[in-house]
Order: sequence, then C-alpha cells, then structure tokens
Amino acid sequence: MAGERETSGGASSPAARAAISLIMTVSFAAALVVVIGDGAYLWIKAIHVIAIISWMAGMLYLPRLFIYHCEAEKGSAQSETFKVMEGRLLRIIINPAMLISWVLGLWLASTGGFFSAPWFHAKLALVIALSAVHGYFSMAVRAFAEDRNERPPRFWRIVNEVPTILMILIVILVIVKPF
Ligand code: HEM
Repeated sequence: MAGERETSGGASSPAARAAISLIMTVSFAAALVVVIGDGAYLWIKAIHVIAIISWMAGMLYLPRLFIYHCEAEKGSAQSETFKVMEGRLLRIIINPAMLISWVLGLWLASTGGFFSAPWFHAKLALVIALSAVHGYFSMAVRAFAEDRNERPPRFWRIVNEVPTILMILIVILVIVKPF
C-alpha cells in the first residue's frame, strides 16, 4: 500500500527526509549569506515566514482531516484514502516546514541578537508548545493509520483550535514585541 511504502526505509524514511530538508536549508541559507552578505537577514526572514505559512497550513488542516476520518467507517475505501492524505501531508509538508522554520528562526535569533529579549523567550515557549502539538498530531496519524483512534470528532474539533490560538499569540509577540 502507498502508506506502507512511505513509512519503509530508504530515501523516503522520515529520517532521510529530515536530513535532506536540513542539508538543503542550511546550504541555501549559507549561500545567501555568502552571496548577499548583510542583506541576507531579510531574505532568510522571508523564507522563515514562507516555511511558517506551510507549517501552519498543515497544522490547521490535519485535525480537519481527523474529524472527517473519525466519521468514515474503519476499513472503508474512504478511511484508507484519509490515511494516505494524512501521511503525505505530515511527511511532505508539515515535517520539513517545521524543520526549516526552526533552523532559520534560530539563525535569525542568533544574528539579530534576540536570545536575551523577553518577547523572544515567550515566543520560544509558545513555539515549543506548537512543536509538542505537532508531535501529538504525528502520533495521531500513526494511530489513525493503524485504526487505533478512539477519540470522537468533537475532541479533534476542540484540538483544531490549539494551533490557531498559538499562532495568533506568536505572531503578536514577534511583530509587536510588547516586552
Ligand atoms: C520554530 C521556531 C522559531 C524561531 C526560533 C523563530 C524566531 C524568529 C526570529 C528571531 C525572527 C526575527 C524577528 C525580527 O527580525 O524582528 C522571526 C520572525 C518571524 N517569525 Fe519566527 N520563529 C519561530 C517560529 C515561528 C512561528 C511558529 C511563527 C508563526 C506562527 C513565526 C512567525 C514569524 C513572523 C511573522 C516573523 C516576521 C516578523 C517581522 O518581520 O516583524 N515564527 N522568527
């Protein structure tokens, strides 16, 4: 099955995908720094924001898929289709986007000298919470793939709001920098 092929080893394994995303991001960022010099900060910030948009798009859509998946009968063709959609969304979009957001975000913090800023500490705490939600969603994708999910649609409707609330607070912190 497609889902099984994606979780098997080789170049499509999660570790290989993560390593490829990491190497490509670091190489591209390093090339920007060498070629553009001081102007690289804004280019890297732009790529950071693009990665964040991809990460958030996935984090907002995945629990929606869980809601529809709960309503599909286990073993049905519809349920199998949701398994493929969830697995691909997680592995092809959400995981690499999170990795790129973290690498470039930490580079921005280091280059911009933000590690001692209180707003950055608050942002970091919320981004760690968002990453924990990401981890929880990854476990849920595995549970749905093995037909082990026992959570009702209502649970996923509530959980769906968590990434939205975290995103709003994070964006206010980084743009307004209130403290
Ligand atoms: C993954 C860990 C992250 C780190 C370490 C990080 C760090 C940073 C840093 C240091 C900046 C530059 C701030 C400046 O130049 O004023 C930045 C910009 C930005 N970040 Fe993040 N960030 C992360 C994740 C996120 C997330 C999850 C969001 C949104 C949900 C986000 C949204 C933004 C936005 C909108 C900007 C542009 C702000 C501006 O130019 O005024 N970041 N980030």
